[in-house]
Amino acid sequence: MRAPVPEVHAGPGVPVPARWRKEVERILITDGQIAQRIRGMSRDIVRDFAGREMVVVSLLNGTVMFLGDLIRNLALPLRLDFIGVSSYGAGTESGDLVFTKELRLDVRGRDVLLVDDILDTGKTLYRVLGKIRALKPRRIKTCVLLNKAARRVEAVEADYVGFEIPDFFVVGYGLDFAERYRNLPFVGVLHPHVYKQAGERVEPVRPGKAGARRRG
Ligand code: PRP
Repeated sequence: MRAPVPEVHAGPGVPVPARWRKEVERILITDGQIAQRIRGMSRDIVRDFAGREMVVVSLLNGTVMFLGDLIRNLALPLRLDFIGVSSYGAGTESGDLVFTKELRLDVRGRDVLLVDDILDTGKTLYRVLGKIRALKPRRIKTCVLLNKAARRVEAVEADYVGFEIPDFFVVGYGLDFAERYRNLPFVGVLHPHVYKQAGERVEPVRPGKAGARRRG
């Protein structure tokens, strides 16, 4: 039986490291909480995929940290591939999706685990699921670290969810704002002054780069 998905509301009250205090309002999920939850999710995945060779398909770029920590906990034969997908939009609202890297492995008849960092409006996962389904895998399961159900536009849910989070603008542990903050070891809430200021001066130069994606 699966453990219930933790719901995060306010964060653990752990102080933000001094270096990030001006930009990050508070820590929502600590590195320790992430590591513990990933171990739990991995147990569920290993149980569900036992006896199968899986293809893990990870979405660039936000999964960089989550993927590494997840797959080192998956004691299963697996192959790994990536799809590059990014939203192209100025300011703080999601724009159109642009594919920047296509899948290279053949997934026909295979068991696919699709990994993303956050499920927000669902537009990304919806589009990517359609693309992979067309390749006729045996089955597809989806795995996200964060689920922000409040902003869902497309009817899509993930099979494995790390944490349910409210509608906060979150960064860190792979999640960016204008390509920054991916290297934070925790998931934090961005100070509104950061994205408000940036929204006034940043214009997108190419998909997923200077354009800032709204996450809250
Ligand atoms: C982010 C995130 C998800 C997507 C979720 O990607 O990594 O893939 O948005 O949002 P949605 O559910 O509203 O579609 P982004 O396009 O910002 O690119 P990134 O992974 O390079 O940060």
